[in-house]
Amino acid sequence: MEHAKQYNKNAIRLESRALRMLLTTLRAKGTTQQAFVAAADRLCSILAEEALALLPDVLDNAPIMTPCGPTTGMICPPDGDVVVVDIVRSGGILQEAVRRVCPGAGTAKILVQRDEETALPSLLYSKLPPGIGEKNVVLCDPMLATGGSAMMALGVLRQAGVRDERVVFANVVSCPEGLRRLASEAPDVKIVTCAVDAGLNDQKFIVPGLGDFGDRYFGTF
Ligand code: URA
Repeated sequence: MEHAKQYNKNAIRLESRALRMLLTTLRAKGTTQQAFVAAADRLCSILAEEALALLPDVLDNAPIMTPCGPTTGMICPPDGDVVVVDIVRSGGILQEAVRRVCPGAGTAKILVQRDEETALPSLLYSKLPPGIGEKNVVLCDPMLATGGSAMMALGVLRQAGVRDERVVFANVVSCPEGLRRLASEAPDVKIVTCAVDAGLNDQKFIVPGLGDFGDRYFGTF
């Protein structure tokens, strides 16, 4: 398994036995849609917690009091200071996972269509909440392939006044191409991923990857 930091110094690859087990279910071709949904939702909940813990306004070493005495810890920003952005459609699966653990977070939608022949992205729709420029932003896309959709979404966020250093990009499977693209074009965006795969095939799908995340989750294939 490759390390994210060799391609992007601001990327973290999560590592645990639970994530490996859930990812194996997602990758396996024979996994039913129902089992895929269950594994994806469980994995996305873990990923959501890790993304929130990376937000810029997290307080580290904050003094707190337990019932038995003082200590220090890490405190997440209030839900209302967080906006979760869905790169439609599979980003919405991860967006819902973040909203489960951070129910008061604001939401945004950015629809980027990837041409099936050329894999080039085009922007079809965006809707962002007011004041997003001052918020902690979690940008959600389970698959980081070429980085084209992520860069287009970041362009929309930048236009709305969001600075890259306020964005955490939450991702299930990445690859060197996408990680390098973000390192060169958006080096201040933090990335949290569960896997760094070998590369892309001719259709710009991640290999070994898991196929089309949205199609397998929604059963549209
Ligand atoms: N989107 C997917 O769902 N899978 C890939 O491998 C690449 C992009």
